[in-house]
Amino acid sequence: TTVEWEAESYDMGGHDTYMHKEISEQADAVDRVLRGRIDDRFSTVHLGGLNLDPREARAIRRVKILGCGTSYHAGQIGAQMIEELARIPSDAEPASEFRYRNPVVDPDTLYIAVSQSGETYDVLAAVQELKRKGARVLGVVNVVGSAIARETHGGVYVHAGPEVCVVSTKCFTNTVVAFGLLALHLGRIRDLSVADGKRIIEGLRKLPGQIQEILAMEDEVKQLAAEYAEARSMMFIGRVRGYPVAREASLKLKEISYIHAEAYPASELKHGPLALIEPAMPTVAIVPDDDLLEKNRAALEEIKARSGRILAVAHQKQDKADHTIVVPKNENELDPILMGIPLQLLAYHVALAMGRDIDKPRNLAKSVTVE
Ligand code: G6P
Repeated sequence: TTVEWEAESYDMGGHDTYMHKEISEQADAVDRVLRGRIDDRFSTVHLGGLNLDPREARAIRRVKILGCGTSYHAGQIGAQMIEELARIPSDAEPASEFRYRNPVVDPDTLYIAVSQSGETYDVLAAVQELKRKGARVLGVVNVVGSAIARETHGGVYVHAGPEVCVVSTKCFTNTVVAFGLLALHLGRIRDLSVADGKRIIEGLRKLPGQIQEILAMEDEVKQLAAEYAEARSMMFIGRVRGYPVAREASLKLKEISYIHAEAYPASELKHGPLALIEPAMPTVAIVPDDDLLEKNRAALEEIKARSGRILAVAHQKQDKADHTIVVPKNENELDPILMGIPLQLLAYHVALAMGRDIDKPRNLAKSVTVE
């Protein structure tokens, strides 16, 4: 069985779909996840429900993040943020896979369950299994008082507000911001400097305004969508911070448009997927202005040399791309929060141009409460 949202009980607020409403709400949503949590005095954040004292936070040797679908992708970005800012080895894994491989449960690992609904069965079952083995499990959850929120030892609410569209947009963004807060908090208890703490806080504060700037580019994205709606298959690439962004953008496109899409690390192109590149297979490339900029540019050149069409999401115009969506730059660690947003709009407008049932894609449910 699946949980049916009583969609009618939420006002669409003048939007044609819940997805469009939810995409448009993201600046306010991010404002909410930040509100009351920033501590300028110590260049950190307060997370009231975490239930993890500083001594425990210092003792963590690894972080393992578990989720499904879009929440799993948010967890992948979260793992990178925690590893970068708190220098704790971290990774994310689909909860369903974790549960069935008889994982080694380690007392020095902090486990984090990620879920919009807080009801996804595979995530809940993983939490219960971890608790049975004595692990410490936190939740990064949207729905207050949900099953996963109740089962975990503590956690961070993402405060995205109700999300009705089956595919997740604003909750994804807020979940990633919540991970940014958690990474900063853990970092400042460990070895992250005051200066870096300040830098991240300034970056967090810029997010809502920068999200508004991106949403204002909707017409530009809509025009591109008319072109990409013709594609039968699309490739999404990125590296390190950009890779989970590419994965989530590819998932979003396939969920609502039913266009086949694949996501690859740009560095892996030459080991296989380059064989697919031809004019009929466009590539969306995540190209942040960071230490991998030149490497990413080289990947664009390889694609161009095979006559592939390229749409770049970047901080500056890319010569090799047919189009660049230029997004505002934040701190390197926080760039992934912003770079996926234009691609939510792209998926939306492609699906709209194809006449898809955007809020209720075929075969999918908002919340999967069975195995
Ligand atoms: C379903 C939805 C996805 C969602 C996943 C996890 O498959 O269709 O959009 O990402 O469940 O949901 P959760 O509520 O745990 O984040």
